[in-house]
Amino acid sequence: MSRLPFITFEGSEGCGKSTQVQRLAARLDCAGVPYLVTREPGGTAIGESIRELLQFAPQGVGMTPHTELLLFEASRSQLVREKIKPALGHGLCVISDRFFDSTTVYQGVARKLDRQIVEQLNAFAIGDCRPDATFVLDVDPGIAHSRMRHTARRPDRMEQESTEFYEQVREAYRELAAREPNRIVVIDGSRPEDNIEDEIWEIISRRFPALATNLQSGIQNPQS
Ligand code: TMP
Repeated sequence: MSRLPFITFEGSEGCGKSTQVQRLAARLDCAGVPYLVTREPGGTAIGESIRELLQFAPQGVGMTPHTELLLFEASRSQLVREKIKPALGHGLCVISDRFFDSTTVYQGVARKLDRQIVEQLNAFAIGDCRPDATFVLDVDPGIAHSRMRHTARRPDRMEQESTEFYEQVREAYRELAAREPNRIVVIDGSRPEDNIEDEIWEIISRRFPALATNLQSGIQNPQS
């Protein structure tokens, strides 16, 4: 691979993925590696408006699963073309807090939409922009819920689902990882954050040595 990697983080709500995204970004800063951090839904002006509609807007109440699916894909399609592909093309490492695996799992499995259609829409939205590595933070839904209860933020529309829904999400991520072991790594998210950070960095350094040794030179990080 001649460019820096595209790395995604996945898992259920409260699994700690956003913390690990920040920790990985801090490691890349230390290593002097240029990077872009983004998230889904969101990451662009259009995507952030879609995120608000999906998560908090009163108009989102009563949204059908079909509409939900199309909105996630619309946000993704914009993000890929406006941010991710250009960033990779300019020599940045890209880290995304969620990507197309979320749709496979949440809409394709937990919402029970037609999986083939979900796959086709994912393919349409991402084109050839596939993650090089994906970390799934695996946490018991009970632990994840108690973590969420301790955050100050009000729960969004998606966070009001049943325990059964989150159990399906967890199981679907595990199945996905078993199907794509070369890309997806399942990490035990119940351990201390420092240990998880070390494990992820160790895997990334091994898989993408250019990141750890900062072989890329002369590229400015546009975020700094
Ligand atoms: P989060 O980024 O805070 O985890 O919130 C995003 C929410 O949206 C979360 O409940 C998972 C859900 N989601 C989907 O259902 N499908 C998707 O494709 C994506 C990206 C997120």
